Amino acid sequence: MSSIMIQNEIPFVREMMEVTRNMWVMGWDERNGGNISYILDEAEIKKYIDINNVKCTYPLQFPVGELAGKYFIVTGTGKYFKNVSLNPEENLGIIRVTKDGNGIEILWGYADGCRPTSELAAHFMSHIERLKRDPQHRVIIHSHATNVLAMTFVHELDEKSFTKTLWKMCTECLVVFPDGIGVIPWIVPGTNEIGRATADKMKDCRLVVWPQHGILGAGTTMDETFGLIETVEKAAKIFMLVNQHKEIVQPMTDQNLLELAEAFGVTPVKGILNV
Ligand code: 13P
Ligand code: ZN
Repeated sequence: MSSIMIQNEIPFVREMMEVTRNMWVMGWDERNGGNISYILDEAEIKKYIDINNVKCTYPLQFPVGELAGKYFIVTGTGKYFKNVSLNPEENLGIIRVTKDGNGIEILWGYADGCRPTSELAAHFMSHIERLKRDPQHRVIIHSHATNVLAMTFVHELDEKSFTKTLWKMCTECLVVFPDGIGVIPWIVPGTNEIGRATADKMKDCRLVVWPQHGILGAGTTMDETFGLIETVEKAAKIFMLVNQHKEIVQPMTDQNLLELAEAFGVTPVKGILNV
């Protein structure tokens, strides 16, 4: 069996191959747009790779002591989602945060010498906040989801109003993300600053919009995280479609949302519904 075929059999590599392919097919991740990081268990990794064979070590500009010793599979910087499933070993890497939290060790992948995504600060800082909220948290996905991005040009960027508009675009949105959406100001990508602002929002919700850029989602599984972004993107698409018309004739009401929350047993984030 070729090494590519062997990689295809590793469950977490397969998941990365499938999700990147799906995101590219959806048109959300042009060129190298988007990145993913996924926390892995040491016991699971040990079945497939030698965790004592460190290929190289890089320092981090932002210490992450909270993640010391943790393992991740992460998309490579500059790599095209379109190509991940064709050559996982070149487009993905498995990394471990050093014991002091000041660097990362490359254990597998990045075969052409590339490094993890330039958005590693946003990923690592968000993982830290989500793990505090939920020890089962595992995945961060960043995507240039088309309609979410479009919506940030025409909708006010107040996060309560942004959340409420999306909740009202598809009946089940409130059930999928009752914790709402965080919105940060426009910030230069790939910086520690965008990482800090994103992680700050991740303290309270699992979705953060980057205006004129894209969205980040957090979840316990790849499916859950993809599903969060998929749901927001669908709602944003409906918003962009109905926004072409002068007015919405049949809006969903705050009362509808309240009844929905009661029926599904979810608690809408406070300060949004006026009922
Ligand atoms: P990377 O190629 O470094 O992952 O960057 C892509 C991106 O979407 C930056 O926000
Ligand atoms: Zn991006």
